[in-house]
Amino acid sequence: MVSEEKNQNNIIRSELILDNTKYIFTDKPINRFKTKPKVEDISLKLEELRDEIEKIENCELKKNASKLVFSDGDNRSKIMIVGEGPGQKEDEVGKPFVGDAGILLNKMLKSISVERKNVYITNVVNYRPPNNRKPEPNEITKYSNFLRKHISIIDPKILILMGSSAMESLFGSKIKITKERGLWKEIIINNKTYLCMITFHPAYLLRQPENKKYSWTDLKEIRKKIDQLNLIL
Ligand code: URA
Repeated sequence: MVSEEKNQNNIIRSELILDNTKYIFTDKPINRFKTKPKVEDISLKLEELRDEIEKIENCELKKNASKLVFSDGDNRSKIMIVGEGPGQKEDEVGKPFVGDAGILLNKMLKSISVERKNVYITNVVNYRPPNNRKPEPNEITKYSNFLRKHISIIDPKILILMGSSAMESLFGSKIKITKERGLWKEIIINNKTYLCMITFHPAYLLRQPENKKYSWTDLKEIRKKIDQLNLIL
């Protein structure tokens, strides 16, 4: 059965019921030119988020750290990398991944022809955990709201979660990185689906270099996806 009508804007809408399924057809034009958010809007939202994090209370991490480490890189990038938390060097400089793990991260990106300056980098927690300990589960949960907002603002096409803290922050603690790494996953944040890859953290690779071969497989997958999606970096 087909029914057809025009609304006041002269848009034709027809309905077809076939095998108990209703199909709706309309000649309403589709806007294929999605407007990109302006750089100023992104920067403003990031500043607001930073202010929000700065106001966090009753936080052991904040009490012990010397500064907030928010992010580094291109805030219009289609690739967003999430690490664990600032170390000593990051705490001094105020930028993520500027110590030894950062040097390895830069090399890993270079190996797939990606320049660090063309990606956006942040961490699960934004203050250095004392003695570089892993963030506690309650800290990961507390900061995961900020991370989710951060991801929504950057709106990446590919999200790379480095290490188990980043994985736990978005997927919970019931899964194991050794099983989950290297697979494309989807995560819904604020009604939007993000494509995501969990991979080993560079600091872990410095301690366990024999596992670099797995990271290399993951990196090649990421490169393949960048090419498939035609991402310009
Ligand atoms: N390790 C991380 O996870 N993040 C940094 O910023 C530095 C080291």
